[in-house]
Amino acid sequence: MTERVIIFDTTLRDGEQSPGASMNTAEKLRLATQLEDLGVDVIEAGFPAASDGDFEAVSKIAAKLEKTQVAALARTSKEDIDRAWAAIQHAKKPRIHTFIATSDIHLKYKLKMNREQVIDTAVQAVRYAKSLTDNVEFSAEDGSRSDWEYLCTVFGAVIEAGATTINLPDTVGYAIPEEFAELVKYIKAHTPDIDKAILSIHCHNDLGLATANTISAINCGARQAEVTINGIGERAGNTSLEEVVMALHTRANYLPVTTNINTRKIYPVSRLVSMITGIMVQPNKAVVGANAFAHEAGIHQDGMLKNPMTYEIMEPETIGLNKNKLVLGKHSGRHAMRTHLKDLGYDLSDEELNIVFKKFKDLADKKKHVMDEDLEALVTEGILRTPDIFKLNYIHVTSGNTVLPMASVQLDARGDSVKGAAYGNGPIDAAFNTILELTGSTCELVRFTVSALTGGTDAQGEVTVRLKENGLVALGRGSDADIITASANAFINGLNRLEYLKNHPVKAAQGL
Ligand code: KIV
Ligand code: ZN
Repeated sequence: MTERVIIFDTTLRDGEQSPGASMNTAEKLRLATQLEDLGVDVIEAGFPAASDGDFEAVSKIAAKLEKTQVAALARTSKEDIDRAWAAIQHAKKPRIHTFIATSDIHLKYKLKMNREQVIDTAVQAVRYAKSLTDNVEFSAEDGSRSDWEYLCTVFGAVIEAGATTINLPDTVGYAIPEEFAELVKYIKAHTPDIDKAILSIHCHNDLGLATANTISAINCGARQAEVTINGIGERAGNTSLEEVVMALHTRANYLPVTTNINTRKIYPVSRLVSMITGIMVQPNKAVVGANAFAHEAGIHQDGMLKNPMTYEIMEPETIGLNKNKLVLGKHSGRHAMRTHLKDLGYDLSDEELNIVFKKFKDLADKKKHVMDEDLEALVTEGILRTPDIFKLNYIHVTSGNTVLPMASVQLDARGDSVKGAAYGNGPIDAAFNTILELTGSTCELVRFTVSALTGGTDAQGEVTVRLKENGLVALGRGSDADIITASANAFINGLNRLEYLKNHPVKAAQGL
């Protein structure tokens, strides 16, 4: 029988460690629900000891999910493990995931502990976690740069203490596929009682090798892959779920293992993650990039017309991509919209549906064909956003090549209605200057991107901004048929997220 690889998704924990990618609780809940629907086996929902916000989000996810295991991360201290357990104890399938570094460089400079102390600490942590739940994962942070023999001793000791999953992280993305495969084989051959635990891998992408390392490890017997959607994560990111799953799916002849993932739900989840984090997927990204199924060269197009298999190793539909599918128009009703949203993975309550439907009608007045991408943007804007402290009521901009660009704006700001006007170098600069004056914000705009959500001259513009204030970084997103309104909405969304971060410090305690 074909063996199964457990897919452990850490978008909500390691993925959230991408600079500026913090998500609010509503967004995390929505994503967790969609990941469960995707067929992920384990969701690492967060690091409860890191902040009250993380604790709250993990608890809510734990209470909501029915089928998927919910893991909470903890360092090896009793306090961290207690906090992790408090957050997930009511989950249908809870898992405590505890970790400590095992490489000499981390022991010497970070932990200031010797090898025996690390083993004792790891064993005590796993034993304690095991007294709370049967499902305990142990990670040897910086495992790929650890002494191999020592690593196996640590793994053997934690298996004896009760760990049911042992995880080998390539924390700094240093491994090379053949070398990583050798290490996996070595661990399997030299770890006492290795058959009593699942061997997992967790790779980072600093050298662009995360997926290659993960696949190599699976090929040598690793049976859990830790991944994130779109490969988001610390620095260059983590192994991306879609790449691993589609490699296993497409090359089943060479890699005889299966996953529980419903591949047709990959693309909607990828879109959701980029919309709620504001981190766009690079166009040439494998599997989910905008160009992943685009054929430009004439010779390729010719081949594709004769038989798609000439140049396409996967069908777009297999990942749930129905290119620019026309979905709804001005006369479409609430029921049609609900059905389409369900197909896209959004099961909305009546109240949520009303909010999105109103936005849909406004958009359909301006845009003849409302596509899947437009609908997703409406859901993100209407439902998943942080509580609004600032809200755009109206914007008017004059610009052109013979006038000094000027914007007049009216906002709701902390419960008051305020209005004002300012000049700028261009219409967007003028809009942002006015919004800054009205909100009193001192933030700096560090990134601004604009793209079209769909094809066509009536496409909605999608704007992403990155704002920085006093060391806090927030992303803002906005979409509208008018790109200046989209920009103003993105800027205001970023300001709302900055306010949220000021009240919910997220990462200060992580120390990873
Ligand atoms: O990269 C890493 O080592 C981690 C561990 C906490 C698993 O994220
Ligand atoms: Zn990691």
